[in-house]
Amino acid sequence: MKRIGILTAGGDTPALNATIEGAVERANKARVEVYGIIKGFSGLLNHEVPHVHLNPLFQKIPELDATMGGTILGASRDYVDGDDLETIARVAHRLKRLDIDGLICVGGDGTLNGMQPLSNFLPTVLAPKTIDNDLGLNYPDEPNEYAREPDAGPRGYRYKKRPNREFGLDEMVNYVTPGYATAVYVSSLSVQRIRTTAESHRRIAIIEVMGRDCGMIALGTAYGQPDVILVPESPVDPGPLVEKVISVLDVQKHAVICVSEGITDVDGDILGSKVATHDPAGNVQYTGAAEAVKRLLAEEIGDAYFTRQRRNESANAAIFVRKIGHTQRGGRPIQFDRFFGSQLGGKAVELLLDGYHNCVATLQSRDGGFQLDSMDANKLRDRWGVIHARPLPVAFYDPKRFQPSHQGVEYFRSMFTNALGAEDVECIRSIFDTGNLAHPYDSVNVHMHKRIRRLPPEG
Ligand code: F6P
Repeated sequence: MKRIGILTAGGDTPALNATIEGAVERANKARVEVYGIIKGFSGLLNHEVPHVHLNPLFQKIPELDATMGGTILGASRDYVDGDDLETIARVAHRLKRLDIDGLICVGGDGTLNGMQPLSNFLPTVLAPKTIDNDLGLNYPDEPNEYAREPDAGPRGYRYKKRPNREFGLDEMVNYVTPGYATAVYVSSLSVQRIRTTAESHRRIAIIEVMGRDCGMIALGTAYGQPDVILVPESPVDPGPLVEKVISVLDVQKHAVICVSEGITDVDGDILGSKVATHDPAGNVQYTGAAEAVKRLLAEEIGDAYFTRQRRNESANAAIFVRKIGHTQRGGRPIQFDRFFGSQLGGKAVELLLDGYHNCVATLQSRDGGFQLDSMDANKLRDRWGVIHARPLPVAFYDPKRFQPSHQGVEYFRSMFTNALGAEDVECIRSIFDTGNLAHPYDSVNVHMHKRIRRLPPEG
């Protein structure tokens, strides 16, 4: 293998540059060239395939810095449609013209689906990333638990999963994805910060975090000590929720609730709403979960409670909502993500060099630590060939306490105990660097643009 391609697809995470750097460093050792494709699969759908040589003379370009969030290659939510054989053939031809012998896609489940059709033409490996931490399996036989049931929607069916069986943490396939730890770090800090103002003003703060249908980010936010955590995998039952919130208010005079954007009611319907996106992977955007919980609490607890407790302030004034939003997806990755993102990037190159094909580099839990491994991409698919987002195992959540269960705590412990490095703490000081006032932001896009090359027209 002389030259490999690498692209970053789907929503970004803070660990992408670390993953690319790990891949480039490993390729340098093997004297393999690495071409970065600009803007994910969108770069391959463009007949000029904008690309950057990431390691001229087998040295990484200076723009590639594992401590920077985002991706120097750019990302998009475009995917190659597996049924569009003409486009797939064209993309394969372009990769051939670029002399690319193997392709690394850094992404999540959507990216893996996008990679699949290309794997018929050249060796492909997925290096995982997603802040949602939903790429992987809770145990190897989990894809067999999906069944199709009739549905009034356009497809005519929907997927229903049997409840998780009991499993040990060592059974998890791909324990954690790079980007998740930083997202949890940001959301936990946000909860801590919002807490004290809610406490002073005797308010209820409802904080919404990302994750789509997976409650991993919300549950990890337990590190910020919210009083209540709501996750999509445990439908919201108004009775116990209100009871819990009132009991917290009675003692603390304020409460902090962390809600995952994809929470549902007891009928399984999204509490907020879904907005269609232009995402060809079929992803929808969730919005309004925290607002919906605010409405629910205001109605169920009633104004009288608040006016009595808060000298005539209404429920509406007593409850406020904050969405952490893209803050949890941006900025400097913490040490855990830098280290393992880079390891997985290196592993992806090794897999290509060792002749693996259509597989996924994974991070496994072993004896309280982590170990790199790989799996055939097909093992993530159900019997219809679909890759489902890994749900938060219900066993990780205690719905009575609205907190992580004992097993949930065990799951987080090995990941987060040493997740922050000394330089993560030191770098906070750089915010008040006087140079920040004197100089405008120096965007990496400006520098990368100068390096972009394109395929010449054919013939
Ligand atoms: O999948 C990652 C993620 O950050 C989700 O948690 C979130 O719902 C979605 O992407 C947001 O996507 P976008 O940045 O396209 O709005």
